[in-house]
Amino acid sequence: MSNVSHAPIRCEPQNIAVFASGNGSNFLAIHRAIQSGQLHANLVLLVCDKPSAPVIHKAEILGVPTLALSPKDFPDKAAYEQAILKALSEKKVTFIALAGYMRLIGPTLLQAYPNRIVNIHPSLLPAFPGRDAIKQAMEAGVKVTGVTVHVVDESLDNGPIIAQEPVAVFDNDSLEELEARIHETEHDLYPKTLAQLLNHFAKETSHDKTSSHQCI
Ligand code: GAR
Repeated sequence: MSNVSHAPIRCEPQNIAVFASGNGSNFLAIHRAIQSGQLHANLVLLVCDKPSAPVIHKAEILGVPTLALSPKDFPDKAAYEQAILKALSEKKVTFIALAGYMRLIGPTLLQAYPNRIVNIHPSLLPAFPGRDAIKQAMEAGVKVTGVTVHVVDESLDNGPIIAQEPVAVFDNDSLEELEARIHETEHDLYPKTLAQLLNHFAKETSHDKTSSHQCI
């Protein structure tokens, strides 16, 4: 009879970085999920490409280290991403969550983090990629739109889909009302999906790869 335990164990938390360009409500949702224990991770860096974006102030208040760099201060995208990569390496980041980061990720970061960069987008991709996805859906007159979490590749709002959640569009919806419901859905779906993914990666990178233990 084997006396090997199959009991759940607590895996090492992943060090994650959030990339954002704007308001930062998804950044806050991720932070909240970590604080509450829903998401087993260390939020070690906020990366922002707009030094005046509100998300930076939010991160500072919460004591999350920030890296705010303007791409225009670098000769090219590779140099800009190399500077980000240096900070990510210093913080031992293993996973990146884009949360309203309005910039394509280039080969420098994609090669350093293969399948380890995910994005949230406010539509049911492949419908309505790019900016103003909620407005695009409304103008197209769809009855259902939603939220997508996907693995990031080199194209705009593209890559394998991990999770989607529909959101109904009502006849008398204003753009603000629809936006509010989409954001509410994002703030629920993103931390939940990240929790599942990080649990999977933590198990994969845990020292005892052959173990039948489940991470909790
Ligand atoms: C979110 O709705 C996110 O899905 C979207 O930007 C918003 C950022 O809001 N991302 C994209 O459109 C990516 N193409 P937040 O700054 O309040 O999190």
